[in-house]
Amino acid sequence: MRYQGREVDVEGRVRLVMESTLTARDRVGVQDFVLLENHNSEAAFIENLRRRFKENLIYTYIGSVLVSVNPYKDLEIYSKPQMERYRGVSFYEISPHIYAVSDNTYRAMRTTWKDQCILISGESGAGKTEASKKILLYYAVTCPSNHNMSTLGDRLLQSNPILEAFGNAKTLKNDNSSRFGKYMDVQFDFKGAPVGGHILNYLLEKSRVVHQNHGERNFHIFYQLLDGGSTELLQMLDLERNPQNYQYLVKGNCSKASSISDKKNWKVLMNALSVIGFTDEDLQNLLNIIASVLHLGNTQFGEGEEGETHITTEMPIVNVSKLLGLEASSLSEALTHKKLTAKGEEMIIPLNFEQAMSARDALAKAVYGRAFTWLVEKINRSLALKDDVDHSNKAFPVIGLLDIYGFEVLQRNSFEQFCINYCSEKLQQLFIELTLRSEQEEYTTEGIAWEMVPYFDNKIICDLIEAKHKGIIAILDEECVRPGETSDASFLEKLEDTLDGHPHFVTYDHKLANGKTRKVVSREEFRLLHYAGEVNYNVNGFLEKNNDSLSRTLKEVMWQADNKIISQCFYREEVTEQKRPRMAATHFKNSLLKLLDNLMTKEPSYVRCIKPNDTKQPGHFDEVLVRHQVRYLGLMENLRVRRAGFAYRRSFEAFLQRYKPLCPETWPVWYGRLRDGVATLANHLGYQEEEYKLGRSKIFIRFPKTLFLTEDALQAKKPEIALTLQTSWRGYRERAKYKKIRHAIIVIQSAWRGMKGRRRARRRRQAADLIRRFIKGFIHRHEDYSPENDYFLDHVRYSFLKKLSKNLPTSVLDKSWLPSPPSVAEASEHLRALHMRNMVRKYCMRIQPEWKNQMTQKVVASELFKDQKDSYPQSVGRLFLDTRIEREQINLKVLQTLGSDKVQYGVPVTKYDRRGFKPRSRQLLLSNTFAVLVDKTKIKQRIDYAALGGISVSSLSDGMLVLHLPMEENKQKGDVLLHCDHVIELVTKLALMARMLNHVNVKPGSIRFAGARGNEGIIDFVNGSELKVAKGKRGHLLVTAPRIKTA
Ligand SMILES: Nc1ncnc2c1ncn2[C@@H]1O[C@H](COP(=O)(O)OP(=O)(O)OP(=O)(O)O)[C@@H](O)[C@H]1O
Ligand SMILES: [Mg+2]
Repeated sequence: MRYQGREVDVEGRVRLVMESTLTARDRVGVQDFVLLENHNSEAAFIENLRRRFKENLIYTYIGSVLVSVNPYKDLEIYSKPQMERYRGVSFYEISPHIYAVSDNTYRAMRTTWKDQCILISGESGAGKTEASKKILLYYAVTCPSNHNMSTLGDRLLQSNPILEAFGNAKTLKNDNSSRFGKYMDVQFDFKGAPVGGHILNYLLEKSRVVHQNHGERNFHIFYQLLDGGSTELLQMLDLERNPQNYQYLVKGNCSKASSISDKKNWKVLMNALSVIGFTDEDLQNLLNIIASVLHLGNTQFGEGEEGETHITTEMPIVNVSKLLGLEASSLSEALTHKKLTAKGEEMIIPLNFEQAMSARDALAKAVYGRAFTWLVEKINRSLALKDDVDHSNKAFPVIGLLDIYGFEVLQRNSFEQFCINYCSEKLQQLFIELTLRSEQEEYTTEGIAWEMVPYFDNKIICDLIEAKHKGIIAILDEECVRPGETSDASFLEKLEDTLDGHPHFVTYDHKLANGKTRKVVSREEFRLLHYAGEVNYNVNGFLEKNNDSLSRTLKEVMWQADNKIISQCFYREEVTEQKRPRMAATHFKNSLLKLLDNLMTKEPSYVRCIKPNDTKQPGHFDEVLVRHQVRYLGLMENLRVRRAGFAYRRSFEAFLQRYKPLCPETWPVWYGRLRDGVATLANHLGYQEEEYKLGRSKIFIRFPKTLFLTEDALQAKKPEIALTLQTSWRGYRERAKYKKIRHAIIVIQSAWRGMKGRRRARRRRQAADLIRRFIKGFIHRHEDYSPENDYFLDHVRYSFLKKLSKNLPTSVLDKSWLPSPPSVAEASEHLRALHMRNMVRKYCMRIQPEWKNQMTQKVVASELFKDQKDSYPQSVGRLFLDTRIEREQINLKVLQTLGSDKVQYGVPVTKYDRRGFKPRSRQLLLSNTFAVLVDKTKIKQRIDYAALGGISVSSLSDGMLVLHLPMEENKQKGDVLLHCDHVIELVTKLALMARMLNHVNVKPGSIRFAGARGNEGIIDFVNGSELKVAKGKRGHLLVTAPRIKTA
């Protein structure tokens, strides 16, 4: 578990905590001055800095303020892996670094969604610009990127070489000294990706364009152009490669610096300009301006006999005019004359030699200065929030980076130093406001008895400079615009008059000035006792520098220039409007106040840069120089306030959380009030009363030693805690696992039981429903099919059908049938018939042709005789034979006579005469169309079926049959009376063959028959014991039929 070394309090201010410092305690000195044992000692402070510096540990904290000592050598601590180390890591968990501050600020911005700023201060050469570049690089590398970020990141980084080329110069203090103040806002979107940037520039040291102190150079761009520019380019600009040829570059007598490669930097610059988006035209215009400044510097003047001034060098003016697109004559005129408007009349007055020189220089400064401002604006346009970024959220937070001039004391301090040091005073005031005061206010809010630590409040000096009417700036402005003769000397006098007696202001003629003072202040100087030291300012040039000394005539020439940049830098209104020109100091003051207002709205972080020596040497630590900076940066005061009362403060919760293992009562959990817990813990640890204080929400510990001891005790306790934690963790883990499993089982069980219960209940309910429906159905079973009884009836039907399906009769003879409930009676009958038909059909399909034939005959027999003739039942069981006379038994002759008509059936019969009823044995042969009676060899009678009129038999068991023939049949002599033992078989076959089914008569009692010659005979039938055929009464034939015994 990583310890969070930072908390964000209510106002979102990042409050840094120190426990992690303790765990990551540095072996070299202390990495946070707050932990310095002897915090009142400046010597100990400096010693700590020195020891760390010697070990290349250039960064040290005072609480949240980063102190950085310029190493003057490349340290391998700015690589990408180093950036990764600091990413997302709390301030104190890791050794101090500019990346820690960068990361911390970034995270504070993201967590609180509030604007942040990093204020970098320190004297010239202390490493401010380097620090700001490192911060920018950190953001460009580590922040998430959005689609436009890759280019924006590049532009942010590439803005530096451009601004440095045009705004930095080699000075005695720093080979790459920023000669302007810079404040840069980087804007981030909600994902934390940089999406825009904006730069504000402050007070470029324009005087450097025309003059450099010995050993110093003009701005880098001039040297870069001459050294790096191609020959063609220089030719185009009418320049020569040697800087010595240019008056503006020779003043410092130092055109080369060993640490600077102008050629290389030129390439870097060209690349940067293209990244920023400079077109060829922009570049050309810009270089034309740079070249024209050099040419302007070479413009010389001479004095005529009448004291008038004229230009002695023609070429430079021609070149300038060409490069800027001007009229050479108007430029020459403007450089040597000035227009005056007096009483509405315009007069052109020639300038004297000095005035012409200063007009030229003023023009060079103005041209360069305004081109620089244009450059910054151009970069801003390139860094501006792009259209494709969501503008709806205007509240994108920003991180501001302030890299502004530090306190500066030179041999001869002028207007610029005055402004720079004023800026330094104001920033110190902001620092006091935001750190010292807020620190002390925390004690008050926490209710800690607290004696205010005195610190020097520099408001008095700020007021001295900026107060309305009575401040130095106001007096300077006044002197610039006052009618009448004014000069730098009159300004000094005015200062003396107004500020006489001010404790921080001294002049030679000051009434308090004594011999000692007069030794250090000359007649042309005034001395300010700044918080950071005493500085003498030489008033020479103050008025001129404050006043916009560029003549209106020159401005007019300039805004008419063809060079686009120049024409954009000068405005018509400047010439036409009779407005009072802008005073440089007031302008500076106003922009500074605006900057401070802006900074006040942001959460600040501080980087305080210290310069270890004046000779830019690595490894050399000049204690005197460092002490001076430590003093004027107010670091001791900062530390004192931070430490004076309490070196360490922490919310009760966090303190208890960390140290509770050290006390059995608070370990492992303290259930009471947090404050009481902390008190118990402190008590147990044996804290003395003077060692700590309990505030409203925090514990304040006075001495680091107390904390070290507590921390050491915690370290010693750690193995024990680890063991306890391990055991309880394991126990907890297993318990948790067990609980989880148990819980899971219970869940499954209850779900299963629930499911089962629900299912059972459902089934019960269904069963009850069913039973209810059943009972209801049963009650209403006799009614029509309705919802009341539908289920029951359906069930009855279903079960009947089901049962029926298992009990169907299997044979046609089986007449049994399952008794049906009333509701299916009709269906049952249909089914029964269907089933029978089905069985019959099946039976029929199965039977052989012979058997079918037999059956047909039997059916016919049944139709003819069933229940009509007594002998019928006996015949049922006997098969009908195909024939009763085999072919061999028939006389051949007969057969031949019959010819092709095949005998289908033959049977022996007894024929009775119609008259005497004499029996004669005969064979009755049936063919398909006729029947014949054969007597041994002869066909006695042929009976065509067509002629047959009917067949009659008795109802008794005798075998008599009468074949009725029509009377008109000549050949026939009446009906034929026959007796056959197989009368049923015979009649059946005959009826079938002769198709006489409807003409078979079964007659009870007697049969009438036609005798010969139209006589009618009668056969009477009676039952007797045996068959007897004899002549009876009245000539009737009497047939006695044996009685059939019935079982
Ligand atoms: N962290 C660093 N590591 C290595 N060298 C450094 C570092 N910081 C500064 N320097 C060296 O010190 C020189 C001066 O630093 P820098 O230009 O940042 O100073 P400055 O405070 O901006 O001064 P000025 O006020 O004159 O602009 C750099 O050119 C560089 O050589
Ligand atoms: Mg700088």
